[in-house]
Amino acid sequence: MRHVYPDRTEVSLCGVEFAVQPGEIVAVLAANGAGKTTLLQHITGMLRPVEGSVRVFGLDPYKEFEKVRTRLGVVFQNPAEQIIGPTVAEDIAFGLGHLKLSRQEQAARVEAILQRLGITHLAGKVPHYLSGGEVKKVALAGALVTAPELLVLDEPFAELDIQAVGDLVGMLRTVSREEGTAIIFTSHQLEPAALLADTVYVLNEGQVAAKGKPLEVFQQQDILEQSRLQAPDLFRLVDLLRRAGLDIEPNLDIRQVAAQIIAAAENSV
Ligand SMILES: Nc1ncnc2c1ncn2[C@@H]1O[C@H](COP(=O)(O)OP(=O)(O)OP(=O)(O)O)[C@@H](O)[C@H]1O
Ligand SMILES: [Mg+2]
Repeated sequence: MRHVYPDRTEVSLCGVEFAVQPGEIVAVLAANGAGKTTLLQHITGMLRPVEGSVRVFGLDPYKEFEKVRTRLGVVFQNPAEQIIGPTVAEDIAFGLGHLKLSRQEQAARVEAILQRLGITHLAGKVPHYLSGGEVKKVALAGALVTAPELLVLDEPFAELDIQAVGDLVGMLRTVSREEGTAIIFTSHQLEPAALLADTVYVLNEGQVAAKGKPLEVFQQQDILEQSRLQAPDLFRLVDLLRRAGLDIEPNLDIRQVAAQIIAAAENSV
């Protein structure tokens, strides 16, 4: 896929072929300026490639914008741009417009999603006065309220505090498992991405530099570094310990890694 912006900036994503299945969570990992947002804008039909093709639900998202848009939820990298309602609750309800629900049904859906995201206290607030992290959550509520088949999130972890990241990972995994929602998200933060994604793609210079399960991809540290990314510290630590001869398996859970180190230390005494 290739895109040329009006100022002639070219973004090529050669051979970037990914199919996302219902219930699957896919991460697109790449450094600043690599083309993550450009890629997502093609998926959501906001941009059209000059070369290559994009299919969402078997449709061209640019040509059949409305048909595709009603089936997907999007949170932009800068979500303040997408919040337009006078209050948080009204903004979230806005997405339900095309579903022809009764007033009570609408209110119940909004209430349920506010609860799911732990932001019921923000319902009456004027969006302009929300904090950065709150804006992200409100935009996410607006994207999820229609129960989309596909959720597209551009840098969902940026601006969230550590607890909010954990909550978001848990919530999105639940949504994906219970409702079969497919999720595509971008990130340059590898640790939360690893906890959320089933499959990760690393993009570098317009190519897929690595693809696979997070545990597999994060062991390819040279490829990550070439792509201006870095494996989570826990992986780098395990790698150093393995190089030093310790028999430790890479793991995303710090407690499990600690248990392995303790066991290795006890064995060596
Ligand atoms: N509207 C635009 N007009 C011109 N150039 C653009 C436009 N949008 C993006 N670009 C350029 O396209 C390239 C890819 O940008 P993109 O926003 O897709 O990167 P990204 O991977 O999302 O980066 P980040 O991690 O900073 O969000 C960059 O070189 C950027 O300057
Ligand atoms: Mg971006």
